Amino acid sequence: MPVFEQLSGHEQVVFCSDPGSGLRAIIAIYSTALGPALGGTRFYPYPDSDAALTDVLGLSRAMAYKSACAGLDLGGGKAVIIGDPHVDKTEALLRAYGRFVATLGGRYITACDVGTYVEDMDIVARECRWVTGRSPADGGAGDSAVLTAYGVLQGMRAAVAVALGSPDLTGRRVSVDGVGKVGSHLVELLRAEGAQITISDIDAVAVDRVRAAVPEVAVADPGSLVDVPTDVYSPCALGGALDEDTLARLDARVVCGAANNQLAHPGIGKALDARGVLYAPDYVVNAGGLIAVADEVHGYDEARATARTGRIYRTTTDVLRLAAAEGIPPAEAADAVAERRIAAVGRLRSLWVSAAPPALYG
Ligand code: NAI
Repeated sequence: MPVFEQLSGHEQVVFCSDPGSGLRAIIAIYSTALGPALGGTRFYPYPDSDAALTDVLGLSRAMAYKSACAGLDLGGGKAVIIGDPHVDKTEALLRAYGRFVATLGGRYITACDVGTYVEDMDIVARECRWVTGRSPADGGAGDSAVLTAYGVLQGMRAAVAVALGSPDLTGRRVSVDGVGKVGSHLVELLRAEGAQITISDIDAVAVDRVRAAVPEVAVADPGSLVDVPTDVYSPCALGGALDEDTLARLDARVVCGAANNQLAHPGIGKALDARGVLYAPDYVVNAGGLIAVADEVHGYDEARATARTGRIYRTTTDVLRLAAAEGIPPAEAADAVAERRIAAVGRLRSLWVSAAPPALYG
């Protein structure tokens, strides 16, 4: 496919190569219509550069939609570093990467993603000011999973209100599939709400950790949680949790979880709708982590970031109401909300140029 057609609407794509450190990275900026493009850096052993390009283009577009729906003054971008983080990650490579991010002059702001951690962002920040997801000691927000879980809880309350008549989760059955960083925090929040919780994870250590903290949880075998009748099924592991197979087995009124790209393809959203299962769109309810790192751009304030994450209740309600009013699946309604905001505000200010870069060091 010709190069520009491959870029599928992206504003800018930057290929970064530093043979000295072994860095091979791609930074994709989908849109800066709403502000600088913020998105994490994925460090992953892609089989080839085409696979890396396809991934970064899809991820950066998704970030633009997530930011727009969350009402943030941010565009959407993402970066991938090609390599095995356990083998190839060195200080020299991360610093070389930071220097490439710096060349974009604030049009792209980076953060953690799969394969990169708070301590990596602290290293990148030694070369570049446009870095979030740093450690609290360095002025960062720290682990974004805490606010991601809080946001998912707000989205869940909103979806349950629409589907079942009240946001109250007391006594409601909630199945949390995947109890890693986000899922485990979510379980603790659900316990405080008085929900009846069932969990599952392929990692027995993760299950034991949750059981030690919240002994009353029920546990289902990996892969079988979707068969357990429930009020809310909450995918909190990897993408693609809902496909033809799981859809056929699902016995739930609401789907609301943290995982990105929960629907294997758009047809699943339509099928959920047809079956009367209310789907709270993933990028609407899991925006808490993004809100946390976005807050860091202005000097992290936990109370402010928590209050902003609380607004996910309202955003989810609005998206679900729009879906009902227009007779479209909620995932399509979320895309429409994002596209309308990008179009409306983007007319005023497209192609972000950072005249006065944010002072990340206070
Ligand atoms: P994590 O890696 O800490 O936890 C994922 C858990 O899912 C692990 O315990 C893993 O063993 C389990 N798992 C993997 N495959 C499974 C399967 N087939 N069945 C059951 N459990 C399985 O990741 P984290 O940070 O908790 O993220 C969870 C999801 O939320 C991911 O999809 C991530 O992209 C998404 N997300 C995370 C955010 C964050 O702030 N950490 C922000 C927005 C989205």
